[in-house]
Amino acid sequence: MAIFPPQTRIWWNEPVAKAELVWISVAFLWGLIMFFMMIYWHIYGQQNLSTQVGRIDPAVFEQRTNEFAEKFRIRDEGDTGVPVVRPPPGGDAYMLARTFDWWPVLELEKGKPYKLHISSVDLQHGFSLLPINMNIQVHPGLEHIITITPTEAGTYGVVCNEYCGLGHHQMTGRIYVVEPGQGG
Ligand code: CUA
Repeated sequence: MAIFPPQTRIWWNEPVAKAELVWISVAFLWGLIMFFMMIYWHIYGQQNLSTQVGRIDPAVFEQRTNEFAEKFRIRDEGDTGVPVVRPPPGGDAYMLARTFDWWPVLELEKGKPYKLHISSVDLQHGFSLLPINMNIQVHPGLEHIITITPTEAGTYGVVCNEYCGLGHHQMTGRIYVVEPGQGG
């Protein structure tokens, strides 16, 4: 109880129980390990996106995305009316967030680099790429430009992981990665 002043005024000179010393050492060592793991993961963990961020007017971003979709549209996604857009390898790809979808659907080639531009035109959303653990906070007025090279063919889901309103749980998108020369 700390209501009364300590009986021994020089409390820090009291001998420390062995078990407590062990636990303090373990906690301290673990803290050190975790600290150096941060540096280790930064270099070897492939956990860092090569991301640039810049300011952009949401209306401008929306217009660029529309132009991009119009130019490189290859088909529609089922009967949803959402275009599937296939940018040239090495080129720019745009995906915008708005309540409540990720637009448009992208089709990328495996092993080819792309500059992926992501921004929001209304509220804060969260770009979460599944099943890959890639997460980006997406704000209106800020554009992420991410250099990516897909390494596996397949269908990737995009979900919103920042609560953005009543349709948040329905806010999904899609990225197809196809073998070079296939798809379309
Ligand atoms: Cu967009 Cu949650």
